[in-house]
Amino acid sequence: MLIRQDQGFDHSIASEITPAHVYAQRRTFLQQMAAAGMLAGSAAAWAQATPRPGKLSPLNSRVSTLPGAQATDAVTPYKNASTYNNFYEFGTDKSYPAQAAHTLKTQPWTVEIEGLVKKPGKLNLEDLLKLSPMEERIYRMRCVEGWSMVIPWVGYSLAELIKKVEPLGNAKYVEFVTLADPKTMPYVGSRVLSWPYVEGLRMDEAMHPLTLLSFGMYGEVLPNQNGAPVRLTVPWKYGFKSGKSIVKIRFTESQPATAWNKAAAHEYGFYSNVNPNVDHPRWSQASERRIGDGGLLAKKVKTLMFNGYEAQVGQLYAGMDLTKNF
Ligand code: MTE
Repeated sequence: MLIRQDQGFDHSIASEITPAHVYAQRRTFLQQMAAAGMLAGSAAAWAQATPRPGKLSPLNSRVSTLPGAQATDAVTPYKNASTYNNFYEFGTDKSYPAQAAHTLKTQPWTVEIEGLVKKPGKLNLEDLLKLSPMEERIYRMRCVEGWSMVIPWVGYSLAELIKKVEPLGNAKYVEFVTLADPKTMPYVGSRVLSWPYVEGLRMDEAMHPLTLLSFGMYGEVLPNQNGAPVRLTVPWKYGFKSGKSIVKIRFTESQPATAWNKAAAHEYGFYSNVNPNVDHPRWSQASERRIGDGGLLAKKVKTLMFNGYEAQVGQLYAGMDLTKNF
């Protein structure tokens, strides 16, 4: 059992948490085993220790060297990251997506590129997977509800895709439309949100190298409940900005109308940058609980400005009033 104090955080169930360096060692070990053709036995043992829902296969990735891409915080156990989810198309309870998302059909899958771009069209998943080399990045992810996780994602910067489709000069925003299929998603049609779930970023946010188009996590293909086969991860923003199961990427001149902003504009702004100094109208945003860290009894930790990515992204918001642009 590993007992470790990280940045002053007290992990009450230390055996539940895999510190980042141990996680990295395990990955290197697995990569070496794979290279030596010895993986079958050990991978099976690893999979048994943490049962995976659905069929997963390893993604070929290298560890990112991008500044800010490797959080050194303890990595959240896979079992928490894949069973405590928000994916309202499968229900509003955090346990529903892991139980219900097996109905999501992730192949064939196409992502349509639309709007103000020189090269609109449809990209199938295979094209997307080949578009740029995959990287693993360990990101802190902070949910607007006050909990957080640390997840090793696999993907590449969204900027790689954007550069290939050549946005026009008047494209100021990027809109992400996600799948809304009532046949496979039982809560599509419910009144909790308007469907499809739509999110958006300003062009410079979308082009920021930290904005990741993700296809996997923990070195494997994304489980359905985490947004398979392709989702966004924007680590300095509240989790709801990271749309799951994306089917359309649209380039627009005006700010997209996003799902949570349409549902409650005074509570969920377009920017939604993690900001401990700007409270949600109904609760403080100054601290958070790490999921896997002792459940509701876990000690809270301080939330960091831009979720700890201020050095990388702070300049995107220079001169903006962040209490108005929340
Ligand atoms: N994407 C879609 N399509 N539907 C959703 O309900 N929930 C968002 C975001 N993306 C959501 C979504 C919210 S509120 C959060 S916190 C994150 O997904 C959760 O991602 P995770 O389950 O992989 O941690």
